[in-house]
Amino acid sequence: MDSFEWNKIIGAVLGSLIFIFVVKTIGENIYEAEKPAKPGYVVEGVVEEGAGPATAEKPEEAPDWGTVLASADAGAGKTVSGRCLQCHTLGKGEPNKIGPNIYGVVERPRASVDGFSYSSAMKSKGGTWSYDELFKFLKSPGAYINGTKMSFAGLRNAQDRINLIAFLRTNADSPAAIPAPAPKKEEAPAAAPPAGPDAKAPAGAATEKPAAPAADKPGPNGAEKK
Ligand code: HEC
Repeated sequence: MDSFEWNKIIGAVLGSLIFIFVVKTIGENIYEAEKPAKPGYVVEGVVEEGAGPATAEKPEEAPDWGTVLASADAGAGKTVSGRCLQCHTLGKGEPNKIGPNIYGVVERPRASVDGFSYSSAMKSKGGTWSYDELFKFLKSPGAYINGTKMSFAGLRNAQDRINLIAFLRTNADSPAAIPAPAPKKEEAPAAAPPAGPDAKAPAGAATEKPAAPAADKPGPNGAEKK
């Protein structure tokens, strides 16, 4: 073969290689840039706004005692008090049981019954069993006084608690005073009779934010292999 024949062969090979290269490049440019519409992996721990657990409760607003006690059903409250008798006596001078005697408990200083061994949580809380305090405590004792030894689930129903407190109020030597009803919303605030500084205090329950889960999962690495 002379060199002219060799040139034709080399030219044909080079031409083929160039053809293959061009086709491959065009093909890659057409197909490469496509991205999946949906990523093939999910980043765990990323929670959408507002999708947290719906367990956080609004603190319950204390009722206006001047209004609700006037219409409370103390007789129904006495029935509710049957649930306390397992642990408490209600009569004057009766002995303590699992819990202290609660005759005259409304407006009584907290943890003040002689000879009853209160929890340190109850003793350190201080204050007085006002209507508001009883209302909050009896809803969920352990939630309101963390560490109390009153192992009672509580009375969810607000009207049950109001009736019970109306009964407990009368179950005393001299029933605690009923505060003046709060003024109607339309009236000027300046004309408001004092209804006690705590009358509108929120129940104080902490509104817990759901804790953000730790984002300790690896990123896309490794997730692409199915
Ligand atoms: C399972 C037993 C149990 C039941 C049921 C129960 N209590 Fe108690 N209660 C206790 C104990 C024990 C204490 C003392 C708590 C402490 O020291 O932490 C207590 C404390 C109290 C106190 C605080 C008294 C004080 O002198 O400071 C009040 C008020 C009270 N209970 C009301 C009630 C009412 C009202 C009911 C019914 C709706 C009720 N309890 C049901 C066991 C009970």
